[in-house]
This record gives sequence, structure tokens and C-alpha cells, in this order.
Amino acid sequence: MTAAAGGTAAAGGAAASGGAAARGAAAAGGAAAAGIAAVEVWWARTADARPGLVGELSAVEVERLTAYARDEDKNRFLVGATIVRRVLATKLDLSPADVVLDRNCPDCGRQHGKVSVDGMQVSVSHSGDRIVVAFHPSAPVGVDVELINPAIDADSLASVSLSDVEAAELAGFEPAARARAFTQYWTRKEAVVKATGDGIRADLRKVIVSAPDQPAALREWAGYDGPVRLVDLQAGVEYAAALAILSEQSPEVRSFDAGPLLRL
Ligand SMILES: CC(C)(COP(=O)(O)OP(=O)(O)OC[C@H]1O[C@@H](n2cnc3c(N)ncnc32)[C@H](O)[C@@H]1OP(=O)(O)O)[C@@H](O)C(=O)NCCC(=O)NCCS
Repeated sequence: MTAAAGGTAAAGGAAASGGAAARGAAAAGGAAAAGIAAVEVWWARTADARPGLVGELSAVEVERLTAYARDEDKNRFLVGATIVRRVLATKLDLSPADVVLDRNCPDCGRQHGKVSVDGMQVSVSHSGDRIVVAFHPSAPVGVDVELINPAIDADSLASVSLSDVEAAELAGFEPAARARAFTQYWTRKEAVVKATGDGIRADLRKVIVSAPDQPAALREWAGYDGPVRLVDLQAGVEYAAALAILSEQSPEVRSFDAGPLLRL
């Protein structure tokens, strides 16, 4: 994990234009009311998982944990849920097990959607051996980390997830650089749609972000007219990662190693 505590990033943004407009407007108001509070970004690894952490999970979370077949999936979920609980416990002056979380999925009603909790905006992501959780007191946040797979067929993935202009830009990268470039597009887009809560129900071809060799920004999203600030996060050479916050202002981004918190 290369993100260092106290890292600051200026987030690029753009207003886009529709369905999620109300959420965007509400988010903008919330962020303004809170000034420019920092976004906290907490990083951990799957190796930080310990069986003792399970005792702080809710019954629903234990059910989800048990349902994962692979240890790596169990560990990613366990570490993510524990970071959520332990960081919120500190901020809300509760014990981790007493933090009340809702992960209602608007599609099916099951508890596998975006984390919702009174008093804090939260977003979780995990890939490979990295787990990341972002927190802001008022403005919705979306975070995404992806392990870069050098063997992906970036050009064919581009046809289903990039706009024409992004696909043309991607084609300008050397073939050896395309997996990273595509994954940067992907994490920037996914951070935005996780901040709004749409997830990949959104048509990612319409969520148009800046080119990977440019500062991160949302260029346009037909159907969304709220504010979005976007910033890349540093997660090591094998990963791409991005953070979106639905705010007019560019907040400070503070990154923390969650390892010590998980060893308490
Ligand atoms: C959210 C989503 C983009 C995650 O993609 P991913 O790259 O596989 O996974 P990530 O590790 O980056 O993120 C996973 C986290 O996203 C969060 N999440 C789930 N749905 C979300 C949503 N709609 N918006 C924002 N965050 C969401 C969860 O906290 C989850 O972590 P957890 O399961 O450990 O609690 C994708 O699963 C999605 O769009 N889901 C909603 C649409 C869908 O599939 N609906 C059908 C379900 S019935």
C-alpha cells in the first residue's frame, strides 16, 4: 500500500446532465453545508484479516461472509466491513458491533448494496489483496480499486464500457500500456457511479471521464447534472484506483493505513 497518511489531492470535476439529478443536487447542498471536510481513505490488505474480527460483524454480515466460497473473498469482505465498523465506531462514539449499517440493494432488497449509515457517507472497494474504504461526513463518496490484469483484452472491453472518444484515446496508447490505461478509465467511472449509488446499472459508456494521462475528472454524464470531483488514488503499480465525491468543492484527501486499526 503506497498511500501515505495526510496525502492531499485536488479533485477535478465537471457537471454532467437527468435521472440522478436530484441526488446530485442534494449532495451538493450537503457538501456545501459541511465546508470542505477531508475525505478519509483507509487502506488494508487481505493479510490483515483475522478470525477474531468476525465477532464484531452483524448476523447479516456473518451470513454474507459464510456464503463466500473462497478465502480471498471472505477476507476482502471481512476486512472491508471491519474497517467500516471500526472507523465509524471512533467517529460516532460507539463500539464497532453497535454501529447500525444498512446495505439495502434497491434492485433486490438484499443486504449487498452501498453501505448506508446515519451521520457518514461511506464507500467500499476491494480487488486483489487491497481493500479501501472512503468516508466523508456529508457528501456521497465512491471509491474503486482494481488489480490491473495485463492480459485483459482492453480493446474489446472498451466497446462495452468506453465512449467513442475514450476508445479513440485508448487506441493511442501503446498496446503494452492499454491494460493500465483501460483500468484507469474503469476505476474513474466506477468511482463516479458508486458515489451516486447507481453502480454498474449505469451505462458506463455515457460516464465520460478524462484520459488516463490527464488529471482525473468527469467530462460528461448525460442523465446526471450534479457536481462531481474526481481524483486518482495511489495503490501501487499493480493497481488503479479512484475516488469520487459529489461536491462542488475539491476536498482534501487523507489516506490512512488501516493495518494498526485492524490489529487493535
Ligand atoms: C457496486 C459495484 C459497482 C461493485 O463493483 P465491484 O468492482 O465488483 O466491487 P468493489 O469491490 O469495487 O465494490 C464492492 C462494494 O461496493 C458497494 N456497493 C454495492 N452496491 C453499490 C452501489 N449500487 N453503489 C455503490 N456501492 C455499492 C458495497 O459496499 C460493496 O462492498 P461489500 O460487498 O464488501 O460491502 C457493482 O457490484 C454494482 O454496480 N452493483 C449494483 C448493480 C447490481 O449488480 N445490481 C444487481 C444486484 S441484485
